[in-house]
Amino acid sequence: MKSTFPFESTFQLGLNWIQEAGSLIMTSIEQPRNIEKKGIIDLVTDADKASESLLLERILHQFPHHSVLSEECGCIAGQSAHQWILDPIDGTTNYSRRLPFFCISMGYQVDHQTQFGIVYAPAIHQLYYAKLGFGAFRNRSQIHTSSTTVLQDAFLTTGFPYTLHSTEQHNNMPLFSYFSSHALAVRRLGSAALDLCYVAEGIFDGYWEISLQPWDFVAGQLLVQEAGGIVSAFSGESLPLAKSSIIASNHAIFPAMKEIIQQLC
Ligand code: IPD
Ligand code: CA
Ligand code: CA
Repeated sequence: MKSTFPFESTFQLGLNWIQEAGSLIMTSIEQPRNIEKKGIIDLVTDADKASESLLLERILHQFPHHSVLSEECGCIAGQSAHQWILDPIDGTTNYSRRLPFFCISMGYQVDHQTQFGIVYAPAIHQLYYAKLGFGAFRNRSQIHTSSTTVLQDAFLTTGFPYTLHSTEQHNNMPLFSYFSSHALAVRRLGSAALDLCYVAEGIFDGYWEISLQPWDFVAGQLLVQEAGGIVSAFSGESLPLAKSSIIASNHAIFPAMKEIIQQLC
């Protein structure tokens, strides 16, 4: 018989808080937004900050000693082995234009191991979550990676880093071009956390992205793994809690994706 998830009460709090933050950003999406630039094409809105403040307030009120790594405020070091990894809005450019493909991403680690991940896309009513050893779910239904076996039939997704305008080093075009002409199709939707959830659900067969941050991938990584897929760095090694270039896919197409990525990068 399956045991009980050891962090169930924390997970339930996380579910409540992420949905609260989702309601908050849905309220502000219709209001005039204050949009600032963190880089040439890297936006931050007042809603990113409000969502982050709400989540930080809830987490640190309940768990004052926990650590938090969150996109807009950086790292809040606590005194315990428990760490929350937050992206208060993943898909900010979409959000800033009211394109409904954006989400909030929340990962929870204990001793550097992700115990649960939650990704909530309020505009499209999609709530994804995974608990370590207990599977991956969308809106309470269990999800699994796809069964596509060859690259030619693979429906892929990717993203582009915000340093695109300023450095050749992060050029995704060779990979984008190769996969566009050798796979079924490649999409670029604008939210890494949701891209990963869509791999977990088998909508996409695979995903890759150069130079992604932990708040973009920690929750989605657990979703893919718990749904039966593989997530790794471009090298094939496991991902550190640091900026990384990542591959996520079902088991069958992973070797082909990794081989091409290693050849072209
Ligand atoms: C971005 C999105 C996008 C990805 C970028 C991320 P943000 O996150 O996930 O899809 O291509 O690399 O930085 O800035 O919207 O939180
Ligand atoms: Ca992000
Ligand atoms: Ca963000």
